[in-house]
Amino acid sequence: MKNSEIFFGKDILSLDQFDKRSIEKVFATAAKIKKTSTKKLLRTLTGKVAGLLFFEPSTRTFSSNSAGFKRLGGQTVEHQNPNVTSSTVKGETIEDTVRMMEQYCDLLVIRHPIKGTLEIAANASSVPVINAGDGIGEHPTQALLDMFTIWEKFKTLTNLKGLMVGDMLNGRTVHSLIRGLSMYPNNTIYLLSPKQLKLSREEFDLYTKRGINLIEIDSIDQIPSDCHFWYWTRVQKERFADKKEYERLKLSFILTKKLVSKKAGKDTLLMHPLPRVGEIETAVDSDPRAVYLTTEARNGMYVRMALFSLILKS
Ligand code: CP
Repeated sequence: MKNSEIFFGKDILSLDQFDKRSIEKVFATAAKIKKTSTKKLLRTLTGKVAGLLFFEPSTRTFSSNSAGFKRLGGQTVEHQNPNVTSSTVKGETIEDTVRMMEQYCDLLVIRHPIKGTLEIAANASSVPVINAGDGIGEHPTQALLDMFTIWEKFKTLTNLKGLMVGDMLNGRTVHSLIRGLSMYPNNTIYLLSPKQLKLSREEFDLYTKRGINLIEIDSIDQIPSDCHFWYWTRVQKERFADKKEYERLKLSFILTKKLVSKKAGKDTLLMHPLPRVGEIETAVDSDPRAVYLTTEARNGMYVRMALFSLILKS
């Protein structure tokens, strides 16, 4: 999707589909929706139906997709746990489930625990499919909302210095966000994680070849003092075969009020895709730089509304 005019009818599977122009188109549309409708009902998608199939649990992605589609006047068919509520339980394949859902819906939003399944689903579907997270692969709409949040604050996505903390190996939001920021010149991201959870060397090489400057650090002391954003993430319990190892690693790096006072800049955005499970002290929540429970989460709905509009309206 290297042209902003051709969102119509397209799948959204990876940040790699986008270029700067198509990202700007999403942002402009999201900003317009945000301005005209904080919680107002728009009616641009009246008569359309979206199918939401979430094979993994979700608070934000599911709810913001569902609310966003309804706020555009559309309706949704929802399977929050298809492994229990759909005929998946009887052995139906993802291809067949998708082929059925396309009979009833104009667009499908799917989350699945296995990387690559969204591509299979999109290939089987005649209606557009949006990747709402595929295992340790990608979470493109999360990256778009994160980039939108950074762009709203700094009015640019170039010359940024950011920090990402937590599970770089398994964190799909991180994978999509680095892909997105790699499209813009002169961005540097510091990556802080336990050594077991560093980016795979394959991914590290893939991203750095695109020109983004990735700097792996080992300790909180190495965090630079003047970042545009901190992007904290949780260690992804559901990806660990060895739960004892998860317990050992889960709270390796905690975002505390003390750390914010010591290392964050006056404008540093404090971000997290959520859910958090102990890696951000609740005392940080009231800091005006903390956007994870407010702007960042709310922007998810506007960005998803923008994508629905662009995909379904010619
Ligand atoms: N950020 C995110 O994907 O959150 P959920 O798992 O709650 O959707």
